[in-house]
Amino acid sequence: MTDLKNKAAAASAEQADGSEPLLNVSGLVKHFPITKGVLKRKVGAVQAVDGLSFDVRPGETLGVVGESGCGKSTMGRLVTRLLEPTGGTIEFQGKDITHMSAGRLRPMRRDIQMIFQDPYGSLNPRHTVGGIVGTPFRLQGVTPEGGVKAEVQRLLELVGLNPEHYNRYPHEFSGGQRQRIGIARALALKPKLVVADEPVSALDVSIQAQVVNLLDDLQDELGLTYLIIAHDLSVIRHVSDRIAVMYLGKIVELADRGSLYEAPMHPYTKALMSAVPVPDPRRRGAKSERILLKGDVPSPISPPTGCRFHTRCWKATQICKTTEPPLIQLKTGHQVACHHPENGEDQAPGDAPLEADVITVAPAKAPEAPAPEAPAAPEAGVVKAPEAVETEAVEAAEVVEAAEAPEPEAEVSPKAAEPATGESPKAAEPATGESPKAAEPATGDAEGKTKE
Ligand SMILES: Nc1ncnc2c1ncn2[C@@H]1O[C@H](COP(=O)(O)OP(=O)(O)OP(=O)(O)O)[C@@H](O)[C@H]1O
Ligand code: SF4
Ligand SMILES: [Mg+2]
Repeated sequence: MTDLKNKAAAASAEQADGSEPLLNVSGLVKHFPITKGVLKRKVGAVQAVDGLSFDVRPGETLGVVGESGCGKSTMGRLVTRLLEPTGGTIEFQGKDITHMSAGRLRPMRRDIQMIFQDPYGSLNPRHTVGGIVGTPFRLQGVTPEGGVKAEVQRLLELVGLNPEHYNRYPHEFSGGQRQRIGIARALALKPKLVVADEPVSALDVSIQAQVVNLLDDLQDELGLTYLIIAHDLSVIRHVSDRIAVMYLGKIVELADRGSLYEAPMHPYTKALMSAVPVPDPRRRGAKSERILLKGDVPSPISPPTGCRFHTRCWKATQICKTTEPPLIQLKTGHQVACHHPENGEDQAPGDAPLEADVITVAPAKAPEAPAPEAPAAPEAGVVKAPEAVETEAVEAAEVVEAAEAPEPEAEVSPKAAEPATGESPKAAEPATGESPKAAEPATGDAEGKTKE
């Protein structure tokens, strides 16, 4: 029933736009089994992705945003077929690739490429930059005009790196430069769709702006279509044409950027938005309502019944606990899964409120709009929105505009540094604990290189 409604909503959005989608995802499911004992008896499942339906149209950027653990990366890996879906369908250019074998997928991999979050772990430290960016040509048996070396050097130049650095190793580059190497590798085979999983979250804010602008420029130049995953609302706002908001394995709202930011309809989206300071000098001193959600995100092993957000939603009523709201189009191009949406017609008027064991709307705290250190002190269980960093990121993204100043060597965030086995950003030796799943992802075959 829900799936049917999802399909209908996706179809009507498509008709309204008039363009055939490049990617069409319908009812996509990924459950990771939990096993016990030597016989590996299945005792449950992590419902990481549970019925996603959306499409991506040629030339657009669809941003996907949501809290940690809501299934964003799993969705990206499913779409690129690095993971095998448990259910649903994935169509690329009208062709069903949901369960396509590795052999049949191989030519398809030229058209769908992935940029990974971690610029430190996703490049093989034993290979030169030339070898890394040239790998897709070798694996696909493609010889570009002028030879692999010339093409790799062209790609390095395209992403703002010095082609003379062809023989250097990843450890000789800064984080931002490494991410550019990852982007060059993803673009090597002239893909149609690029799935970027948190492409800038491991980078320093000023470097984030450069990489975001680079992705923008490359899209214009090469006519790329992006599916960009991020938890940073300001990055998503800057890059996306349309935005999907995920909560606990589901899309709860999907709309174009203007509509979503001006009038969010899902309470969860509203809470996320309220945590973002608005860098608008005209609103200096204006009171803004900040919604603080209490409680942790429930476990995807046993998600709440009905609406998965009902345990944290201040608008929840009885129906929210028992009946899952379908993702339906309530305004043109604006889909939402909620019985009592904001800025829209109530779908279950008069329903009795749920006993409030959760629900908190904090008193308004008025952040001085342009001040970057504005956000209120974080509380346990508060929506993990990107807070102060965001304003800086947006402003920087708009101002820096590919100023391409030489990147500082040490811009490693603690998060990025972790997986590299203690490697310091300036360390001369390459990291050796790199996860094999990340190395050579551009053309790697599915399951062997993923968490599964
Ligand atoms: N291979 C796996 N086996 C079991 N569970 C997994 C696996 N991969 C992901 N999960 C679980 O699926 C859920 C979604 O994970 P996912 O990495 O997609 O989240 P995310 O939204 O990308 O989070 P983040 O923002 O932290 O990257 C999590 O609960 C995670 O623990
Ligand atoms: S369906 Fe109910 S619980 Fe879910 S977001 Fe809407 S109002 Fe809140
Ligand atoms: Mg992730």
